[in-house]
Amino acid sequence: MIRFATIGTSWITTQFADAVARVAGAELAVAYSRDGARADAFARQIGATSSSADLVALLASDEVDAVYVASPNSVHAEQALAALRAGKHVLVEKPAALDASAFAELVDAAEASGAVLLEAMRTAYDPGTARVRQLLGSLGPIRRVSLRYSQRSSRYDLVLAGERVNIFDPAFGGGALNDLGVYCVSALVDLFGEPSRVLAAWIDLPGGADGAGAALTVHDGFVADLSWSKITASDVPSEVQGELGTLVIDHIPAPRSLVVTRLDGVREEELLDVPAFDLRPEVERFVQLCSGGGDASADHERTLAELRTLEAIRASARRS
Ligand SMILES: NC(=O)c1ccc[n+]([C@@H]2O[C@H](COP(=O)([O-])OP(=O)(O)OC[C@H]3O[C@@H](n4cnc5c(N)ncnc54)[C@H](OP(=O)(O)O)[C@@H]3O)[C@@H](O)[C@H]2O)c1
Repeated sequence: MIRFATIGTSWITTQFADAVARVAGAELAVAYSRDGARADAFARQIGATSSSADLVALLASDEVDAVYVASPNSVHAEQALAALRAGKHVLVEKPAALDASAFAELVDAAEASGAVLLEAMRTAYDPGTARVRQLLGSLGPIRRVSLRYSQRSSRYDLVLAGERVNIFDPAFGGGALNDLGVYCVSALVDLFGEPSRVLAAWIDLPGGADGAGAALTVHDGFVADLSWSKITASDVPSEVQGELGTLVIDHIPAPRSLVVTRLDGVREEELLDVPAFDLRPEVERFVQLCSGGGDASADHERTLAELRTLEAIRASARRS
């Protein structure tokens, strides 16, 4: 049985708890918050056995096997490193670290302690992504890829009202690229590999975070464009164009409707009968790894490629 402690008391941790309840071999042991009363209330809310407001004691506890890190992005690496050094397995929310070198340090720490490290990138473990991967083989040589994720955040209203909000605060690793663009980047490197060249631009918000942006990525034989926003909304789907057919994907973080139009005009549509949003597949993968099933080196390579590509996008956007 993998006994989890959770870090972070926001909506995403409630989704994680819901997933743990449906995964065999996993249970919620401790809910951590920086505030003791909030830790107590949150432990009751998510069905954890106990609560803690002392991270050092929590990481020393032999009643915890693994830690789910769902704090602001800038805090991930420090908390994950402390947990790994304490011998705990770590499932850390996306983006796992602010850059590839910080994640490489976590990989080293995981190897040193014999613990499992995994980025909680739900797209990578989603059944819709697996189906996209299968369909790519029937499209012929891939020539164009367009991946998009734009969703207006209700927290943007707080930014417009002059408040500081973590997810829009560069000091916390906030911004649209890290929050939503990362799904496009992760799917890109996972399905198509790391680009050889990146050109990008973004929109700066008051406070310095990016609110929306776009990137052009160059690969061997094809070009991709990525588009993301937290300040506007879009229903325009993602698309993969091959010489023998085009695949339209409704929602790149969790594909549920897939339409292939072949060269001869034949249209094949698939609707996946799985929940629209579900952290269960990533929790299953993590628990399998913690239980000695397989190794996470390919997962780490994907995260490192994702983080390097994010760095290349940031560098290009800052120049433009
Ligand atoms: N996989 C997904 O679909 C998905 C969806 C949403 C978010 N996320 C990821 O989940 C993470 C959390 O996002 P969020 O929007 O929920 O963030 P958030 O609300 O800013 O913070 C999450 C939690 O971290 C703790 N926290 C806040 N400020 C902190 C600080 N300065 N130092 C340490 N802890 C702090 C808070 O818990 P306490 O105050 O109780 O300690 C808070 O509940 C991010 O990495 C985000 O990318 C993933």
